[in-house]
Amino acid sequence: MLDKKNILIGVTGGIAAYKVVEVASRLKKAGANVRVMMTRAATEFVSPRTFQEITGNAVFVEMFGDAAHFHVAHVALADFADLVLIAPATANFLAKAAHGIADDLLTTTILAFDKEILIAPSMNTKMYENPATQANLAILKARGVKILEPASGNLACGVVGKGRLPEPEEIFATIEKIFAPSTKALSGKKILVTAGGTVEAIDPVRYIGNRSSGRMGYEIAKSAVNAGAEVILISGKSELEPPNDLKFIKIESALQMREAVLKDFDSVDAVIMSAAVADYRVKNPAAQKIKKSADTLTLELVKNPDILKELGGLKNSQVLVGFAAETQNILEYANKKLVEKNLDFIVANDVTAEGAGFGVSTNIASIIWRGGNVENFPKMSKADLAEKIIERVASLLNNDKKFPAANVNQ
Ligand code: PMT
Repeated sequence: MLDKKNILIGVTGGIAAYKVVEVASRLKKAGANVRVMMTRAATEFVSPRTFQEITGNAVFVEMFGDAAHFHVAHVALADFADLVLIAPATANFLAKAAHGIADDLLTTTILAFDKEILIAPSMNTKMYENPATQANLAILKARGVKILEPASGNLACGVVGKGRLPEPEEIFATIEKIFAPSTKALSGKKILVTAGGTVEAIDPVRYIGNRSSGRMGYEIAKSAVNAGAEVILISGKSELEPPNDLKFIKIESALQMREAVLKDFDSVDAVIMSAAVADYRVKNPAAQKIKKSADTLTLELVKNPDILKELGGLKNSQVLVGFAAETQNILEYANKKLVEKNLDFIVANDVTAEGAGFGVSTNIASIIWRGGNVENFPKMSKADLAEKIIERVASLLNNDKKFPAANVNQ
């Protein structure tokens, strides 16, 4: 499991640093490539040479002192690692990491690292329980950093309480678990999500667009990633940062979205179309900026292909989920789209309701299943609604019959 994994250990200045020698040794024996960086304070407790002998690699302490090994050490070390373990982590380190302070090699490397970080704090009980330390831990946890809680017992300072570094075998087991193959609801599944609004050119300057911000679709894509899926997010216009850990394809027009969706359709297990796709495009967009002259301007529009309907015709085993942006007769119109487009379920939202639809961070939706069953949801964040949608897609793909609504009247 750990074979050929690149693990970077950051050792800070605590008496428990000696235990981390054993962690490094276990990782090395398990086949991992292990590199170690230490703060100057850490070298007061364990010699860098000890880690060097155990790992077979040079140990890094100084920001500018090891130039012979790497061009820009903190970036190279961050790029090297699949996982960074900080053990023991002092209260001082936690404070710096929580606030983005980068005043030595270790803290600078952490700032340049964007994958899994595991921190094992170890210190005196009062320092650990101090509200400042707890607040720093909360900040780090909220950012997705994994914290291995310290154990209770006799501490080096003579106190009995919480603050001991967990034993090397526990730290090793936690790392193994991080690399263990996922058993999440969508692991092994490939999901295609569309988001944002398409843009239909009038001329090189102007376009016909819509009010979609991309939020709903980006949340769905994130939720699918969290559920272990391999995700392709095809996005029209959106100001949002693309989420991590997925394949991101940016398009502009409905025709480009169609091409991108069709290219991947055969290889995916499910498609969730939350994008607001323009139903019409300008027949002949002008090659140059249209000059303001006449009092009126007539644009001839032609119908865009209905991407989802096309997928409904092509579908074999894929789960197909659509959205219906409605302003009246919500359930009736949405149900019509569900049937016409051959969907497994459709998410209907009244885009005129307050706190629902375009732009906002919440939505009010109903899920209509094939066969007519309806689930009505109260106002909730788009992230929560995304989770509900992903749970239902996973249930259909895993055929676990968790949502009886899916199986009635089919
Ligand atoms: O992006 P946000 O600001 O978060 O807003 C979210 C949202 C309001 C855009 C979203 O919740 C939503 O309702 N998305 C669907 C918008 C839409 O185009 O609805 P529709 O009822 O016109 O289309 C029905 C379905 O067919 C949709 O899944 C749509 O993606 C698809 N469609 C539509 C037209 C077309 N030519 N091809 C399509 O595939």
